[in-house]
Amino acid sequence: MVDTPTVQVLTGLTVPEFEAEMQLMTQALGVSCGSCHARGNFASDANPRKLAARRMLELTTTINRQFFPDYKPVADESRLGRVTCFTCHQGDTRPKTHP
Ligand code: HEC
Ligand code: HEC
Repeated sequence: MVDTPTVQVLTGLTVPEFEAEMQLMTQALGVSCGSCHARGNFASDANPRKLAARRMLELTTTINRQFFPDYKPVADESRLGRVTCFTCHQGDTRPKTHP
């Protein structure tokens, strides 16, 4: 389990599940791990984009808990639920605002 004080939202996941969520976030935003993380220290909150991403994790888990509580992710889907980072971001750091 990944339950250190610096993991505040993605708690209760196995290590492989946690690593998969990091991979999915990377793909959803079209960035690399180093875009959010301070060099050589994943636990550090020094990078403001990591803090933005944690707020987004809160937003996403809140939406899923409130509106899609019965959704059960299968296989390699995100553990976050029906709505994921990709739902809005679609490969970009800034989601499109209009068609
Ligand atoms: C979009 C930003 C973002 C990207 C990209 C990202 N991470 Fe993270 N990472 C986070 C956030 C936010 C947390 C803290 C999650 C929480 O508080 O629940 C975190 C936590 C972690 C942790 C736990 C560190 C600790 O506190 O012990 C590890 C390890 C980690 N990430 C590795 C990776 C790896 C490897 C990649 C690339 C595959 C990656 N991350 C990509 C935002 C990101
Ligand atoms: C409901 C739609 C939605 C979801 C779901 C969502 N985001 Fe976002 N996110 C946004 C919007 C809108 C912005 C603001 C972008 C802007 O400033 O134009 C944003 C901004 C961000 C930023 C700041 C980008 C920057 O400019 O540096 C990060 C990082 C981010 N989101 C990560 C995530 C991650 C990680 C997830 C999944 C845990 C996620 N988002 C889920 C809508 C969403």
